[in-house]
Amino acid sequence: MISYKQLGLVNTREMFAKAVKGGYAIPAFNFNNMEQLQSIIMAAVETKSPVILQVSKGARNYANQTLLRYMAEGAVEYAKELGCKHPEIVLHLDHGDSFETCKSCIDMGFSSVMIDGSALPYDENVAITKKVVEYAHQFDVTVEGELGVLAGVEDEVSAAESHYTKPEEVIDFVTKTGVDSLAISIGTSHGAYKFTPEQCTVDPKTGRLLPPPLAFDVLEAVEEKLPGFPIVLHGSSSVPQEEVDTINQNGGCLKAAVGIPEEQLRKAAKSAVCKINIDSDSRLAMTAAVRKVLHDKPEEFDPRKYLGPARDSMKKLYIHKIINVLGSNDKLLK
Ligand code: G3H
Ligand code: 13P
Ligand code: ZN
Repeated sequence: MISYKQLGLVNTREMFAKAVKGGYAIPAFNFNNMEQLQSIIMAAVETKSPVILQVSKGARNYANQTLLRYMAEGAVEYAKELGCKHPEIVLHLDHGDSFETCKSCIDMGFSSVMIDGSALPYDENVAITKKVVEYAHQFDVTVEGELGVLAGVEDEVSAAESHYTKPEEVIDFVTKTGVDSLAISIGTSHGAYKFTPEQCTVDPKTGRLLPPPLAFDVLEAVEEKLPGFPIVLHGSSSVPQEEVDTINQNGGCLKAAVGIPEEQLRKAAKSAVCKINIDSDSRLAMTAAVRKVLHDKPEEFDPRKYLGPARDSMKKLYIHKIINVLGSNDKLLK
């Protein structure tokens, strides 16, 4: 058993309380490799932002949970080396799908876990979430639960259509489980294809597809039931058209990829939404940069020559999200 405290990591409790009060959200960025991690840490240090490093089931399969944990420990030291005296870095399990997975992450130094029982019947979601909370809280590890199902694929938890969170269930769920934060469904979904063209309207000025707005009425109803309680938004990538264009101009084929407009995320961040999950935008930024280098310089074969620009591009994206969308810059406690 290794405590995350020994690794210099923090849980989400204090940073969420401050974010809810301050009307901003903490970035939760997924990482699978060194370049993503470096760019996340550089962005967080330069903007003086707290940050949540997320490890999904896919990341654990791809990069190995132990290695990712040591990378997060290294990230704390790296942040200090970059000049941040008191980094606030959370290592979070994204979409934990069993008690055993959550326990294994807690035991090896994760400071926060999500138990995603959103696809289970309500009572089973309560039971598994409560079990994880009881274990996690012994070690001061914070827990995120989820109510309501996002459209599309949630790791391997899939749902044919979006089921928004039912505000009438949230008090009972939070009281029975003791969770520290709650992910809700208000119209976001995972991946780069969040809406079909048929669900969108065409913006007459730009010709781009405009998705239907998020269900802010559901968010407001949840906030009314749970005043000041930390709310989480998954599936919050905006799918920047420039990245999609760069990918498509350099041999890619991403058709009708549509994300959540940043104005809507900005509005959400000012509410009780205090954690916003972004993964796909980083994947797009990385892929666009790699494709461009390899297209422009077909003779190149040193991975640093295309992963370096990819890292620069992701860093720029993370800084933009922190400052212009989430508002978590200059929010470190010390
Ligand atoms: O929630 C989904 C995240 O974007 C992680 O996706 O399982 O492909 O790593 P992944
Ligand atoms: P995106 O696919 O919209 O980036 O969402 C990521 C996410 O919710 C990770 O849990
Ligand atoms: Zn998610």
